[in-house]
Amino acid sequence: MNRRTFLLSVGALALSRLGWARQGYRWESDSLTGTYPYKLPDLPYSYNALEPAIDAQTMNVHHQGHHATYVNTLNKALESLTAFQTVPLEELLSSLEKVPSAQRMTVRNHGGGHWNHTFWWQILTPKKQEPSMSLQKRIASEFESWGAFRGQFLDVAAKHFGSGWAWLVLTPTGKLRILSTPNQDNPLMPYAEIQGKPVLGIDVWEHAYYLRYQNRRLEYLTAVWEHLNWAQVEALLG
Ligand SMILES: [Fe+2]
Repeated sequence: MNRRTFLLSVGALALSRLGWARQGYRWESDSLTGTYPYKLPDLPYSYNALEPAIDAQTMNVHHQGHHATYVNTLNKALESLTAFQTVPLEELLSSLEKVPSAQRMTVRNHGGGHWNHTFWWQILTPKKQEPSMSLQKRIASEFESWGAFRGQFLDVAAKHFGSGWAWLVLTPTGKLRILSTPNQDNPLMPYAEIQGKPVLGIDVWEHAYYLRYQNRRLEYLTAVWEHLNWAQVEALLG
């Protein structure tokens, strides 16, 4: 047994002792966030790049204020949980029941917050993109048409009660489903109505739109729809 094989076996044993091997959903792509200590990622564009759909002040506060708090609070919660520090965030979130109860809600809220916002910055793009024909066909095969999909997605996002997210999810059996989750939950978590891989998500917390749109969430959603990164959605679909 060489050193790498030995380390992998020890790692697998440690994970299996913690119960990670029994998780219900497994994220198979590269981790979006990596492991502890987590860092606030740079935005892939400037704060004013999404004007007028999302104003620069909202982007600044959202990134430097809200997202930074999720990262810092998550790191604090994991400070003493050394066994959990090497576990990628996707695995932590999909197996939250393994996290000690004293820290579980913090990891759920702030780990979810860090993951969701890292995802969110990548799903936005300054330049309007048309979805490729193959993506439109894939979506239309499950939602009748591209237009029907857009209508259903925006409807779920607009009607979600309170803070949360709207998602398009690839289920473990290869289906595409639309759902919303409360607060900073996401479809990686065992609490989600449908568990799977998020391939599209829209932040419907008031902090994402209230400065410009106040209570007009649908107006925000239709504006932000024009800034979705369909190439990223397609890459996540694989
Ligand atoms: Fe947010």
